[in-house]
Amino acid sequence: MFALPRRTVLIGAAVAPIAACNTNTGELTAAPTTTAPGQVLAATADIPVGSGKVVGGTVVTQPKPGVFEAFVARCTHAGCKLTVGAAGPATSGGVTDGMLNCPCHGSQFGLDGEVLRGPAVTPLTPVAVKVQGADVVAG
Ligand code: FES
Repeated sequence: MFALPRRTVLIGAAVAPIAACNTNTGELTAAPTTTAPGQVLAATADIPVGSGKVVGGTVVTQPKPGVFEAFVARCTHAGCKLTVGAAGPATSGGVTDGMLNCPCHGSQFGLDGEVLRGPAVTPLTPVAVKVQGADVVAG
């Protein structure tokens, strides 16, 4: 069996967030886009209660009426992008009611970014957001 030296594995892990491989499609997923303070991410009306929506490199959720949260739409296991996908089990990817799914290895996250199912063990990276008028904005 081929074994990589520990140093090689660590260097590879540090590079992974720049371009990760989507094991479903074999395509590299692009690095997530960043948000700027004040940037409009979505209209509040477009984020369903008890669900969420992926907007560029950010996933915006509304776990309770009027409570909005956002996270970098990048799985903390191996860096696959959480994408908008069909509702269903973990293998479908995207946002389903009550959870965020990773299409690569089946991790699931709650609307608060916490890990519900591995292999990911680290919560999603939060993005600060606030409601401004009828919009959810970064900052
Ligand atoms: Fe492996 Fe998401 S990258 S579960």
